[in-house]
Amino acid sequence: MQSQNVYFIDGVRTPFGKAGDKGVYWNTRADDLSVKTVIGLLDRHPNLPKEAIDDVAIAAANQKGDQGLQLGRSVSILAGLPMSVPGYAIDRWCAGAMTAVTTVSGAIGIGAYDLALAGGVEHMGHHPMGDGMDPNPRFLAEKLVDPTALNMGNTAEKIHDRFPHLTKERSDQLGVASQQKAAKAYADGNIQADLVSVSAQSTEGWKLVTKDELLRPDSTIEGLKDLKTPFRPHGKVTAGNASPLTDGATMSLIAGERAVSKYGLKPKMKMISFAFAGVEPEIMGIGPIPSTEKALSKAGLKMSDIGLIEINEAFAIQVLSFLDHFELSDDDPRVNQYGGAIAMGHPLAASGVRLMIQLARQFEQNPDVRYGMTTMCVGLGMGGTVIWENSNYRGK
Ligand SMILES: CC(C)(COP(=O)(O)OP(=O)(O)OC[C@H]1O[C@@H](n2cnc3c(N)ncnc32)[C@H](O)[C@@H]1OP(=O)(O)O)[C@@H](O)C(=O)NCCC(=O)NCCS
Repeated sequence: MQSQNVYFIDGVRTPFGKAGDKGVYWNTRADDLSVKTVIGLLDRHPNLPKEAIDDVAIAAANQKGDQGLQLGRSVSILAGLPMSVPGYAIDRWCAGAMTAVTTVSGAIGIGAYDLALAGGVEHMGHHPMGDGMDPNPRFLAEKLVDPTALNMGNTAEKIHDRFPHLTKERSDQLGVASQQKAAKAYADGNIQADLVSVSAQSTEGWKLVTKDELLRPDSTIEGLKDLKTPFRPHGKVTAGNASPLTDGATMSLIAGERAVSKYGLKPKMKMISFAFAGVEPEIMGIGPIPSTEKALSKAGLKMSDIGLIEINEAFAIQVLSFLDHFELSDDDPRVNQYGGAIAMGHPLAASGVRLMIQLARQFEQNPDVRYGMTTMCVGLGMGGTVIWENSNYRGK
């Protein structure tokens, strides 16, 4: 085996839908959403021999029912990949797809693999957060974690408690900005280019889903001001500054340099480093801070070297805590240029690859930017960060 560089070649996703029986995917299976992404992605690379794919890693945070039959293998078979292509399911909750990418990248980097598919899916309508979980009573009995740590909205309220200068007004502002940036990204055609349309059946019949369902482009600060605070009376986290409950799937094609030259692939970005890190579970949203510090240090880079940042907006407050730590302004133009999860949604284990898809497209549009990062927080107190080099970099 010979070590080699690892590249993000391409990625696609389904449009994201509203979780629940009113959502567009209520009658669509989670594994079928994932199948769509595999087929849609490989259709974009017709000359790539499918039997050359060394592995398929697919994440879900809740691995039962239509997300339960070992997604890597079952989705590969359903998508018509040759039976010789293996697959596995993977889980790191919200960072599932990110971990699918870093895990296959490790295998490619040491030369065990050359080509892999990595992505994630979450049907939060079919699998509400925490459904079927049976947390060990020791967590609370032995005070291993704060009781609030198991509810993500509460963890966001806790960050507001810890950093009072990161006010609700700032969270709302970030929520509105996310909606406005997503609306502009749609108007500019920056999102549609990487979407795989899905036929979905509703009470009104079949419909072709071509756009994220949850967008609220007309959001205003005034409109967000008095929304209910579902996680705490008189709290600060609302539906306007949190990511909504979402159904959706993502998929990426990851390759080593040998496959790039053998199959004439055009990489969009090169992996430079990645890191995961743990924090106190009750403020899990600050996880991207230590994971980013670790990833920057492994890469020998500083935050000032990073020209584009895709951070998952699980909650506005956890994005603000990241920006504050790295002394970036709330509206730093390098951050989430197309908007984020507050506007588009956050189908837990799928989101990591959405960040990569958006960063890759922004790299294309910004050939003067050399480095970018994708980063996200993870339940029970973790963060993950991947640093990428722009394959379109043409120098300053
Ligand atoms: C915050 C949360 C509880 C809201 O759920 P919900 O109440 O079902 O959300 P809705 O879409 O019905 O929005 C609630 C209300 O706010 C309104 N609203 C939502 N976004 C709005 C916006 N941008 N502008 C104006 N109003 C808005 C809705 O219209 C609705 O109003 P109504 O009650 O009058 O109908 C839910 O989205 C949630 O749990 N998010 C976090 C998910 C999570 O933890 N993910 C993991 C992260 S680690």
